[in-house]
Amino acid sequence: MIVAVDGPAAAGKGTLARRLAAALGLPYLDTGLLYRAVGRRVLDAGHDPRDARCALAAARALRPEDLARGDLRGPVADMAATNVAAIAAVRAELLEFQRRFGREHGAVLDGRDIGTVVFPEATAKLFVTASAEERARRRQAELQGRGMPADFVQVLSEIRDRDAQDENRPVAPLRPADDALLLDTTLLDADAAFAAAMALIATRRPSHAV
Ligand code: DC
Repeated sequence: MIVAVDGPAAAGKGTLARRLAAALGLPYLDTGLLYRAVGRRVLDAGHDPRDARCALAAARALRPEDLARGDLRGPVADMAATNVAAIAAVRAELLEFQRRFGREHGAVLDGRDIGTVVFPEATAKLFVTASAEERARRRQAELQGRGMPADFVQVLSEIRDRDAQDENRPVAPLRPADDALLLDTTLLDADAAFAAAMALIATRRPSHAV
């Protein structure tokens, strides 16, 4: 069973996908971490994350321990990830890892293109959204919770920039799959979003798997 959880930045995909994986007894992969770790490697090497050659070399050199780094979040890491994610060769390099992960035991994967590119045959595809203002509010609270200063207007502007880049890139742009189940979490807390997601997934599970 593959559950794809796609949607824009800070829509609550990560929290939701982790809970879904635990409830369904499936492994969980945060695919954004792959792009974050590639972006971080490029920055470490002193290069520009928009440089396709450097970003591809970083993707090829990626190791599992890179995903456990403590510096993969925050505005600099966010933008580096968004930039390397727009490079077709980087996406191609990371595709096989994601497919292998899911094929081994089934999985819940969250990202931007899981339902459209990585697993178009997924059992259930959720497209999780929330208004940009609500996402900025959540991201601001998250940053402040980690002791990082966060100005609402700036966080909102960064979220809008990342949305625009993710939606408008030519390769694997952020968009719901034709058969995606839409879940708007603007007015939902984490528990309500989880309950709504489980109900949506139940509509796509074959009866013998329930
Ligand atoms: O979900 P996130 O914020 O950790 O993702 C970081 C960046 O990586 C974001 O700009 C979109 C990109 N990304 C992507 O293009 N495809 C994915 N499957 C996951 C993330």
